[in-house]
Amino acid sequence: MNNPLIPQKKKVLDVIAQTDIDITYKVEFDEKLKGGQFVQVSIPRVGEAPISVSDFGDGYIEMTIRKVGKLTDEIYNLKPGDYMYLRGPYGNGFPIEKYENKHLIIAAGGTGLAPVKNIVNHFNGDIDKVKKFDLLLGFKSPKDILFKDEIENWKKNINLTLTVDNADENWTGNSGLITTFVPNVEIDNMDDVQVVIVGPPVMMKFTALEFLKLGVPKEQIWVSFERKMSCAIGKCGHCKIDETYVCLEGPVFNYTKGEELID
Ligand SMILES: Cc1cc2nc3c(=O)[nH]c(=O)nc-3n(C[C@H](O)[C@H](O)[C@H](O)COP(=O)(O)OP(=O)(O)OC[C@H]3O[C@@H](n4cnc5c(N)ncnc54)[C@H](O)[C@@H]3O)c2cc1C
Ligand code: FES
Repeated sequence: MNNPLIPQKKKVLDVIAQTDIDITYKVEFDEKLKGGQFVQVSIPRVGEAPISVSDFGDGYIEMTIRKVGKLTDEIYNLKPGDYMYLRGPYGNGFPIEKYENKHLIIAAGGTGLAPVKNIVNHFNGDIDKVKKFDLLLGFKSPKDILFKDEIENWKKNINLTLTVDNADENWTGNSGLITTFVPNVEIDNMDDVQVVIVGPPVMMKFTALEFLKLGVPKEQIWVSFERKMSCAIGKCGHCKIDETYVCLEGPVFNYTKGEELID
């Protein structure tokens, strides 16, 4: 990447509907990146927004984008062979080397699953790299569940708890907030635990509190912030909370720092 501010025209390779309004886009991309980083996605004359990379491979990235407004409405209409513009990757990403050989617990709410999906796939593909893996997934309702096929696959290797806030008459699984299920996680050795929490700010706050109640030290908890960004390179101050530039120092924070940033 020569100039980090110039968006590059990239071809959409595949489009997979997750729900009525959440679509996964596989897009050509050659830059090296790590799970938890984000790119700035744009359509000329429409706008630009930060989007997490949900997975990546040789020559491509995947992003799961919810149709919520001006830009994402335009992106929603893109088909394979169409183009979008990307710049990045930006942000720090998750320190996955710290999770190796540990009891990894990931709690993800809604689209918060997108930024951690790559970590889940990484360890699911090589499950001996972690001592134990618990995955807590919460969605508003059954129709909001993302990555259904992957969830079925993850269940084979991972202790997976899937819950919905509002069940319908056909739903036979768990219901209730993700926080309800945190005390069920069996922790054998507190020193081994690494917890990753990603979701709306209120979900991250209360889920972290539940893990703290279980005795998990703040140093072993990680969160990621979807703070509205603009330049993504530490110039405009859009993402700033107090003295912290979320685009540069985040979006992933250890909870020792992350708890101060919840605004
Ligand atoms: C680091 C990071 C990673 C993100 N990853 C993803 C992702 O993987 N998938 C995804 O769908 N979205 C993600 N987002 C959110 C995404 O950037 C916004 O939804 C996007 O800006 C909406 O643009 P728009 O022009 O379509 O909507 P707008 O017309 O700008 O807004 C539509 C509605 O969404 C609200 N909104 C806009 N931006 C945000 C925001 N950043 N956070 C919360 N509410 C917002 C507005 O208040 C409004 O109600 C991420 C944001 C950040 C900062
Ligand atoms: S988004 Fe501009 S400084 Fe962070």
